Amino acid sequence: MENQQETLVSRNRRIILFPFPFQGHINPMLQLANLLYSKGFSITILHTNFNTPKISNYPHFTFISILDNDPEDERFSKSSLINFAPNFIFKQDGADVLRKELELLLALEKDELVSCLITDAFWHFTQSVADSLNLPRLVLRTSSLYSTIIFSSIPLLDDRGYFTLDDSHLEEQVSEFPLLKVKDILKIGIKSDKDPYAELLSEMIKQTKASSGIIWNSFKELEETELERVQHDFPVQSFLIPFPKYLTSSSSSLLDQDQTVIHWLDQQSTESVLYVSFGSISQVDEKEFLEIAHGLVNSKQPFLWVVRPGFVKGSTWLESLPDEFLGEKGRVVKWAPQQEVLAHEATGAFWTHSGWNSTLESVCESVAMICSPFRGDQSLDARYMSDVLRVGVYLENGFERGEISSAIKRVMVDEEGKEIRERVRVLKQKADVSLMKGGSSNESMESLVDYISSLQV
Ligand code: UDX
Repeated sequence: MENQQETLVSRNRRIILFPFPFQGHINPMLQLANLLYSKGFSITILHTNFNTPKISNYPHFTFISILDNDPEDERFSKSSLINFAPNFIFKQDGADVLRKELELLLALEKDELVSCLITDAFWHFTQSVADSLNLPRLVLRTSSLYSTIIFSSIPLLDDRGYFTLDDSHLEEQVSEFPLLKVKDILKIGIKSDKDPYAELLSEMIKQTKASSGIIWNSFKELEETELERVQHDFPVQSFLIPFPKYLTSSSSSLLDQDQTVIHWLDQQSTESVLYVSFGSISQVDEKEFLEIAHGLVNSKQPFLWVVRPGFVKGSTWLESLPDEFLGEKGRVVKWAPQQEVLAHEATGAFWTHSGWNSTLESVCESVAMICSPFRGDQSLDARYMSDVLRVGVYLENGFERGEISSAIKRVMVDEEGKEIRERVRVLKQKADVSLMKGGSSNESMESLVDYISSLQV
């Protein structure tokens, strides 16, 4: 009875969340939504029709589609969908649509106060909309503190000429950030601070600083030194919460996860399987694909490989591989229940593209990594995992079968792998402790709830 009353009292506050419509952004936002729901808030999710979340998995939330539901607007035709979200964030023409929607919602909710808007950091235009309505906006940053610090330094790095250096400088150290090599900076994928991606990152940083608070999918003990810098550079409250420690993201998966892999893993020996997945967006050409396949087979280790349809440019799925090529040790699927795979005792290591969700999920399940970043924040996270925390081996020179099988051996067979596993085990323990009463993540979660509850609209 007491509990019931408590729930009724707190359910009179609603939070509106707006994820950026890609898998690596939808997962943490919906995990956050579920956590806030469990703390008593009512939840509204704004979403685009492009990559609509699986609404049927969230009967306890209200969903409202915005931005791309005008059938007359040809930007929303199927062929241009992939360009849709970037178009919006570059042109900022979502602001009016969002303002109208929020005005309706704020007028509607007579019995329920809207406490705040939480949007992905990429939706930078939402800050001015929230300001104009006097609605506090919190930012969900779906990547690491470290990569965000580097992103905030892009103008400085551009001034110093890093983005135009030729290949002869790739191995040189970046003197402003001694952890990084020039090639890590170049892999972000921008040419100068005038290119559209750099402009997006710059707006993202500016409007994150202007927000009412930042929620990071991370934990204090993972990025303690970076937290000091963030608190200095971003003059708003930061809340560090490692979502994969609380929940899996299976319910927000846009693709069907092949559950049969768990039965396959049940039949493998402890820590014998290399799990391989390069996230939801990255692509390789056929040559790289074949190098990966040869590297895996030559390693002679059992492996579970996620080859997303569309992963190989110009191919539907596996047609560039000769029949029977992968042999009996390899299992290939289109999409896996990643967190369950990482949690399985048969999984010995994770060959990843170092997307932040994958990285954190790996740490949270104490799985050693091989890091093959593609673009964006991934090279920065790969460097951090391999050189600062030393829980991964960085495959720095792309995909070459000899280097691949030797990295697999280092992590799966050699003494080095045992040491890496031990270090990642310690990190996982720190994450576990951080969730306990008095632990850093637990306190961050509690102070986030108190903070949101205190916001006055
Ligand atoms: C991207 C960026 O890489 C990332 O750094 C950024 O912060 C968010 O957007 P993505 O490239 O897809 O995301 O990688 P990642 O961040 O690792 O997210 C992939 C998600 O898909 C993970 O939560 C993972 O568990 C899930 N996944 C992946 C599956 O559910 N099944 C799979 O087979 C593979």
